[in-house]
Amino acid sequence: MTSQMENELLTGVGPGTPMGALMRQYWVPACLSSELKADGDPLRLMLLGERLIAFRDSAGQVGVLDHRCPHRCASLFFGRNEEGGLRCVYHGWKYDVAGNCIDMPNLPVDRNFQGRVKAKAYKVAERGGLVYVYMGERDVAPQLPALEAMLCPLDETNLWARQRQCNWLQALEGDIDTSHFSFLHTGKITVNDIDPNHLERFQFTDRAPRYHTRRTDWGTMYAAYRPAHPGYIYYRFAHFVFPFWALFPNGPLTDNVLAQGWVPMDDTHTMAFTLSWTRKTPVLQLDKLGQPLPLLDRVSPTLPNTADWFGRWRVAANQANDYLIDREAQRTISYTGIAGVFPQDSAVTESMGEISDRTLENLAPSDRMIVMTRRRLIDAVRALQDKGTVPPGVDDPEISSAARSGDLIAPEGQPWLEAYEQTMGQALHPIVALAAE
Ligand code: FES
Ligand SMILES: [Fe+2]
Repeated sequence: MTSQMENELLTGVGPGTPMGALMRQYWVPACLSSELKADGDPLRLMLLGERLIAFRDSAGQVGVLDHRCPHRCASLFFGRNEEGGLRCVYHGWKYDVAGNCIDMPNLPVDRNFQGRVKAKAYKVAERGGLVYVYMGERDVAPQLPALEAMLCPLDETNLWARQRQCNWLQALEGDIDTSHFSFLHTGKITVNDIDPNHLERFQFTDRAPRYHTRRTDWGTMYAAYRPAHPGYIYYRFAHFVFPFWALFPNGPLTDNVLAQGWVPMDDTHTMAFTLSWTRKTPVLQLDKLGQPLPLLDRVSPTLPNTADWFGRWRVAANQANDYLIDREAQRTISYTGIAGVFPQDSAVTESMGEISDRTLENLAPSDRMIVMTRRRLIDAVRALQDKGTVPPGVDDPEISSAARSGDLIAPEGQPWLEAYEQTMGQALHPIVALAAE
């Protein structure tokens, strides 16, 4: 269904690739704000296949530069971050956050040409604890993305960065592939284990949902549905938002404000940035007696970060140790024997290979959302390439504020989009909550 050519188009993100060009239209999360301290260590940053250096200057401004010094290409990773700029240690040239060369101490004053040298620098913005980079060509960058989860007050936002060692698209496709939840993550849990009042219990009475899917202004959306109480339907809504955001159901639609960005580091490494409102209803994690469900932890330990290009936010349970699979646990208490939702997802998505060969797939009706999302991406890439069409949300990021994931129960016969809009109308919105205080 997906050809080799389409697969290459979808997965290649480096400079000069069609998908790379699409992603460079948008602001891209690069790192957590907390990873950069004023006059602190420069950070190696691999982003869309480019080797960059991020640093925070004495005034607190963040710079993101090509890692090669524009003098003779030594890496600025070894630079001295001091007094308002990053100084290359080879000959002492110094750059401010905009890439301007502000010192050339190895040249006599009459030979100095610092005003004519510039390091390649990208525009940077910070919001909600994230550092965003704009790697596109516009002189004036577009507005920042405006998903609800990005607009929560900082002290009400949970933020995680975690690395996945595979291509960005197969990582993202895991978040819009809802039927796996009842197997990979909770295959060993029965409806009798769950609090009868918990909305998510219907995932365990019927593990084979049906789907509605739809193209949206911001990307795509689906509702997976199955019977709830007699006369009612249990819906789970989710969205893909251009260019790499997934909003997946993880609680009631009324307050489940979250977003996960699958940011390509290069074609075979991806950084997941997860933002979640702290006031949302807690996720299904406890059984009906209030005890933790086995191996369903939502927070996964990470290894200490290193300065390597791929050394940041690696999950401790990883490919090198088979995700610490416990076969005895798999026989008795857990479907996978792997602890934690993120490592469970890592195991299956990384096991597809660094870039999944999609020509080998046999897609099913449960993959409708994946098929539609690939098509939406391919269409947008081609429209940009052939006609210069600006992709969705670049110039109108506010359109995505209507996207929220989560579950609800609606009467049989009510159209699915009406049920969605009605519940969204009654939902708790972080910005409104903030304004009301
Ligand atoms: S290579 Fe950086 S100052 Fe010479
Ligand atoms: Fe999953």
